[in-house]
Amino acid sequence: MSLIKTLYFKPLGDDRGSLVALEGNKTVPFDIKRVYYIFGTKEGVSRGYHAHRNLKQVAVCVIGSCRFVLDNGKEREEVVLNSSTKGIMIEDLTWREMHDFTPDCVLMVLASEYYDDSDYIRDYQEFLKVVND
Ligand code: TYD
Repeated sequence: MSLIKTLYFKPLGDDRGSLVALEGNKTVPFDIKRVYYIFGTKEGVSRGYHAHRNLKQVAVCVIGSCRFVLDNGKEREEVVLNSSTKGIMIEDLTWREMHDFTPDCVLMVLASEYYDDSDYIRDYQEFLKVVND
């Protein structure tokens, strides 16, 4: 099974342009408690390098692009996010890295929980221990 779970969002376009609406428990398969977005990422900077114990997220590059690496402790897969009508679902205990941000990239993330620092696993060796337990 692929680690990359792609979600496709229907653009509600008319002659004025496009609109995408994301709704919790409908287009996004969980209750949305938090939204954050990453922008202005400097050239050559990579982000992420962590997993969560208990968090579901959907990531969408609404402008520009970046490359995600997802890792479940056994396999690593990559996907380039470059569409405002396509997102990826990232579930619990997935190590994620984000690379190759274009200067205009706005990466929006919808999350199932409020920010909780204690939910983070930031050490890759600890992550491997937790997934293999
Ligand atoms: P960080 O987790 O380092 O970003 P990433 O892993 O995506 O590269 O987050 C940067 C800072 O922002 C860090 O001090 C924690 C804070 N933060 C919040 O306060 N709330 C949030 O929802 C997120 C995602 C981060």
